[in-house]
Amino acid sequence: ETSIVVIRPETEEEDIKRAGDILKRGGLVAFPTETVYGLGGNALDAEASARIYAAKGRPSDNPLIVHIAAIEDLYGITEEVSGRAELLAEAFWPGPLTMIFKKNEKVPYSTTGGLDTVAVRFPGHEIARKVIKAGGGYVAAPSANTSGRPSPTEAAHVIEDLSGKIDMIVDGGSVGIGLESTIVDMSVDEPVILRPGYISQQMIEDVIGPVKMDAALLSADSKARPKAPGMKYKHYAPKADLVIVEGDPEKVINRISRLAEEAQADGRTVGIICTEETVERYKTGIVKSAGTRSSEITIAQHLYGILREFDELEVSQIYSEAFDTPKMGEAIMNRLIKAAGHQIMKV
Ligand code: TXA
Ligand code: MG
Repeated sequence: ETSIVVIRPETEEEDIKRAGDILKRGGLVAFPTETVYGLGGNALDAEASARIYAAKGRPSDNPLIVHIAAIEDLYGITEEVSGRAELLAEAFWPGPLTMIFKKNEKVPYSTTGGLDTVAVRFPGHEIARKVIKAGGGYVAAPSANTSGRPSPTEAAHVIEDLSGKIDMIVDGGSVGIGLESTIVDMSVDEPVILRPGYISQQMIEDVIGPVKMDAALLSADSKARPKAPGMKYKHYAPKADLVIVEGDPEKVINRISRLAEEAQADGRTVGIICTEETVERYKTGIVKSAGTRSSEITIAQHLYGILREFDELEVSQIYSEAFDTPKMGEAIMNRLIKAAGHQIMKV
């Protein structure tokens, strides 16, 4: 039985305490963060980590991110923290940045998927921080979706995937960012970005100088092997076939419209992902605007939710505009390209 609690001022303290107690005795609690909802378990308890993998149906060689609620706690689970990592922590924590360090003996291998390194994040979301504190300070939390589905950006998505499989779901409303945190490997001499997110390469370089992008992220080759084990799995995948159409905006509208008509004539249920700027232009299929190009975070916020809606509507063919926006474009396109299984059409 999963208890679902909506955070309200009058009952918040009691609910957070209950969430903490569940975590301390090895149970699982889903909670909101500023990026996506997380599925939390005590990161220092090997059995709790095993329960997380089971609930998500996630391969156990895919390491979990350990969430903390105070910078000092970083030193309790790591072997070595570089000066540059401290600068990044100062600049971006609490916030949507995950850093990888050499782990110490307190972190069980079941949490790190057998690796000698540990991913650590200090989230900015107030409810997340309170839950982590109440749970003892170290909470392993992957995104709270069934493995292979889009990450949850509201409690309803978590309920859909994990109800009946975990002890508690803390409903704190919709998340602010909508894409998972940026991951940067600080356990090596030259820091590498393993997963793009809201904190961009430029923002990181402004603080510590040059950082590289994991070569597998840049490669068009879907078989290049990424350094973050989780990035190798087919991820964020909708049930439908998804094709991204990229190029001159007018040509994109025309091509998507034509493809949508053809697919519909073929008997397929068609979904289109576009923006406020173009939503009126599409006449065929189920048309969803993710947001506006003048506020790219609106696109990030709604992307996963739209993919889930299309699943529910049994859409079998999706065409999406490309979103190479200035700041979050890298992160948005990284997720969209994976959802599309690398099917991109240039016009
Ligand atoms: O925004 C987020 O980071 C969310 C919220 C809940 O905080 N969490 C999240 O966790 O996205 P998850 O488990 O869905 O993704 C974690 C990613 C995976 O791709 C995993 O392979 C990678 O981080 N990762 C974790 N530990 C690692 C390590 N030691 N070395 C390399 N990659 C690691
Ligand atoms: Mg995930």
